Amino acid sequence: MTSSDPTPEPGSPVPGGQPKGFDLGTLLAERGGERYDLHGKHLNHQLPRMLHTIGFDKFYERAEGAHFWDAEGNDYLDMLAGFGVMGVGRHHPVVRKALHDVLDAGLPDLTRFDCQPLPGLLAEKLLSYTPHLDRVFFGNSGTEAVETALKFARYATGKPRVLYCKHSFHGLTTGSLSVNGEEGFQDGFAPLLPDTEIEVGDLDALARELKRGDVAAMIVEPIQGHGVYIPPAGYLRSAQSLLRAHKALLICDEVQTGIGRTGTFYAYQQEEGVEPDLLTVAKTLSGGYVPVGATLGRDWIFKKVYSSMDRVLVHSASYGSNAQAMVAGLATLSVMEDEQLVENSRRMGDLLRTRLAALVDEYELLKDVRGRGLMVAVEFGRPKSLKLRGRWTMLQAARKGLFAQMVVVPLLQRHRILTQVSGDHIEVIKLIPPLVVDEADIDRFVNAFTDVMDDAHGGGGLMWDFGRTLVKQAVANR
Ligand SMILES: Cc1ncc(COP(=O)(O)O)c(C=O)c1O
Repeated sequence: MTSSDPTPEPGSPVPGGQPKGFDLGTLLAERGGERYDLHGKHLNHQLPRMLHTIGFDKFYERAEGAHFWDAEGNDYLDMLAGFGVMGVGRHHPVVRKALHDVLDAGLPDLTRFDCQPLPGLLAEKLLSYTPHLDRVFFGNSGTEAVETALKFARYATGKPRVLYCKHSFHGLTTGSLSVNGEEGFQDGFAPLLPDTEIEVGDLDALARELKRGDVAAMIVEPIQGHGVYIPPAGYLRSAQSLLRAHKALLICDEVQTGIGRTGTFYAYQQEEGVEPDLLTVAKTLSGGYVPVGATLGRDWIFKKVYSSMDRVLVHSASYGSNAQAMVAGLATLSVMEDEQLVENSRRMGDLLRTRLAALVDEYELLKDVRGRGLMVAVEFGRPKSLKLRGRWTMLQAARKGLFAQMVVVPLLQRHRILTQVSGDHIEVIKLIPPLVVDEADIDRFVNAFTDVMDDAHGGGGLMWDFGRTLVKQAVANR
């Protein structure tokens, strides 16, 4: 601004009035305290309601790596990674600098009638991890990556039906919802696509459905995100053979499991001979900054969908391939390699599971510890002793999943560790921390978890009192 320019700098005071223009610091300083009220008034009002109820209504102020801090400077350990999007940790300096660089570069982005270099470079890099796949479509989220895979599978095979697994989660837009096997999500949103649910691991059911001749594909998470259920060994390979025999496609949804989460770059790579025809990726690819989704596929599938110049825009997204998202993806993959985060995920995941598994014999409420890499489930189950069994039964009668909620709450309240219950009506908590966690973080989690288990088994009044509050709420919500 020159001295003759009458426009004030954003945020600067104007004579006799309020600051004019946009200034982020001023806005947050003035209005940041209203966050829960604003959300309750203008967004999904049940979120602040739920957060107030369980005492999760914190004021976090700063974040870095696998940690964030509240206004008093208390440090929290993040075992949730923003539902998995913070794979390389929060505000990774390499990703952050790359994004500053791309903003400062003033690129002619999204002209829509040219070819920019960044999408091609990210596609080339992504495809280097799956040499049997040839092409990429970029959208803006996990569910959009799934929608793309469903459309491409139907068009390429000329068949309408997609098979999916019970308990699966593939996103919440209408197509993805049609292949969502988690109870409750589909209710009230019909009619959906004519897709069909089968049990994960049930090859007979798959063969039976394929015989009808109308199946375009099966979509499967190599490890299910809700509950961290791992299919039986050999299932993906056998399913792939059956699908191929019926000219149907295998879609692996690696939105959550992909990019190192399970200790290999993709989870499907843990089973020899598996080569999905379509593969969906999102979450970690964003660097935790810019939403991005990618659908990778075989050449012939893309060639069929985009079979003529007339069809060039038959599947596209206005923001797809935008420069910021592409840079976030490229910088993230560079960090994954430079910091060997796939290897870290495997090592830290092994350590976490080994230490937690050692507790299973000590605590009767603890039933199972499972997972791969840094995708870990801790499952609770019916205890043997009479006293604990009474309490457990009281919770189960009100609603399944309340005990897991009873564990998640003190982990945050007492130990400042953020975790989540892994799906509705299951007694499982899921741990998906940023892939940058170290041994000190694992130690902190295991010590905190041990303390909470001690409390639950020692009949610690506070924890079970909270359980009774949850029971009352569950009954009131019926
Ligand atoms: C396996 C899987 N697919 C798809 C999605 C949907 O991704 P998004 O929330 O980015 O739409 C998720 C989200 O959790 C997921 O875990």
